[in-house]
Amino acid sequence: MSARSSSVRRDPGYTGLTTPIDTLPAEYYFDPARYLRELAQVWYRNWLYICRSADVADPRSFRTFEVGDQSIFVARGEDRTLRAFHNTCRHRGAALCRSSSGRFPVAGIVCPYHAWRYNLRGELLQPSSRQPGDGFDVRDYPLYGLPVTEWNGFVFASLTADPPPLATSVDLPLERLDNWELDKLVVGHRMTKTIRCNWKVFWENYNECLHCPGVHPRLAQLVPIFGRALLERTDDPSWRDHATDDDPQYAGGLRRGALSWTMDGQPVGVLFPGLTAAERTAGHVYLTCLPSMFLAAHIDYVRVVRLRPLGPELTEMSIEFLFLPETLADPARDISKAIEFTDTVMSEDAAICELNQRGLHALAHATGVLMPEEYAVRQFQDWVRAQLSRT
Ligand code: FES
Ligand SMILES: [Fe+2]
Repeated sequence: MSARSSSVRRDPGYTGLTTPIDTLPAEYYFDPARYLRELAQVWYRNWLYICRSADVADPRSFRTFEVGDQSIFVARGEDRTLRAFHNTCRHRGAALCRSSSGRFPVAGIVCPYHAWRYNLRGELLQPSSRQPGDGFDVRDYPLYGLPVTEWNGFVFASLTADPPPLATSVDLPLERLDNWELDKLVVGHRMTKTIRCNWKVFWENYNECLHCPGVHPRLAQLVPIFGRALLERTDDPSWRDHATDDDPQYAGGLRRGALSWTMDGQPVGVLFPGLTAAERTAGHVYLTCLPSMFLAAHIDYVRVVRLRPLGPELTEMSIEFLFLPETLADPARDISKAIEFTDTVMSEDAAICELNQRGLHALAHATGVLMPEEYAVRQFQDWVRAQLSRT
């Protein structure tokens, strides 16, 4: 039976899909060849979130990052400039960094294999051979440099020489979160989870709240519009019936009396002083940088989630909780109610993503279908298709 369009009311400005749309083919979520193609087309061609600037603050400090079969490192120079390189020696290709973080010695970057030595600018200072051979010029063998950029205390690097501008990689204007003064925030807690799902399953789940009432009972209470399986007021086809209603179940934002995403709705940290009244009442502002990162800004903390594919059906999620330094310096402050809340919600998401992944293997299941509330999943899938088809 099909819905007759004449009987369907959709108010102007309605955001949902108006026709059923096929999902990506099921094999996109587990086929190894498909996974390799996505690494090459998506993960090796965009900005990737590596770490906080504070993690590589000291001269000669470094961090490595692995994705697919690629390994890179970012390192702070003696001149304070941050640079990124392939983690590969120009001699015969040995990996240079043996640990995932640390500090290079004053002598510079020394390859563990035959001790070629580079400075923090990536220039080869000295090969190990006493007489390197006629015509050998150290200037011909610098480390393989990569683009790196710092934005508000976040370090991004890319495996391609010409990544898109960061401003177009992020779904909000880069200055949208300026009132949070993100560069001044410090990490108060970190957690990492490994999820048995394809990286796209994670992002699709992130992009809809159709699952919220069933999967996130606590979150659905805290954010009443999520309890209606909607992200925004205009996701309801009859949204004009409540166009000016400021009840959070229509307007969005947190339930009355709640101020932040914590177990009891009360903030755990010192409030960010520069927020506007609208930013304080919104409850959350999300910023997404596909394919590797999103952050959710609340009134007293910011949650940063970094994603990293580990295989066709395995994804790593690392979460950082950022606070004002005053919050972490105050022993009377207990941030655990924020951590616990996030852990609850993200664990629910991780579990449901794993369930989604398991079902996708059914021989009968070639493709799924998107419902009206899943308009942002469609946008994500269109983005994936565009990434895969570009030359
Ligand atoms: S591979 Fe690095 S010095 Fe030989
Ligand atoms: Fe969720």
